[in-house]
Amino acid sequence: MKKILILNGPNLNLLGRREPTVYGGRSFEDYLTELRQRFDGQAELLYFQSNCEGALINKLHEVGFGEVDGVVFNAGAYTHTSIALGDAIRGIEVPVIEVHISNVHQREEFRHRSMLAAACRGVICGFGLDSYRLAVESMI
Ligand code: DQA
Repeated sequence: MKKILILNGPNLNLLGRREPTVYGGRSFEDYLTELRQRFDGQAELLYFQSNCEGALINKLHEVGFGEVDGVVFNAGAYTHTSIALGDAIRGIEVPVIEVHISNVHQREEFRHRSMLAAACRGVICGFGLDSYRLAVESMI
């Protein structure tokens, strides 16, 4: 059974309440229950969310040397700014898949650039919360 960490960055704790026309009306905790049921017996899904860049880096270091088989990472806006998170992904051994709920390429230009994508195994974006399921499937 695969052990996969779902890692969510800033403002994703507000899913369900935050800009529902962009991110939908469902909380991540609610969605996670469904996701865990779906992959029952196939994958153990760990979850961590932080609004702090350093806490996300620390988590990647903590799990990145065999503690998990892979990381599904939505870094929120840090995706577009954080060289440190990109370096953290490059520095660990386990594969990371970058995910986004929205199609960042249909949005403002500053969202078109990712500081993480080149360090990741792949990128999935634009499928709503289903982006996470697709990433977990791919990781398995
Ligand atoms: C996001 C896209 C980012 O541009 C934004 O800053 C987020 C959420 C997404 O999942 O669509 O916080 O990562």
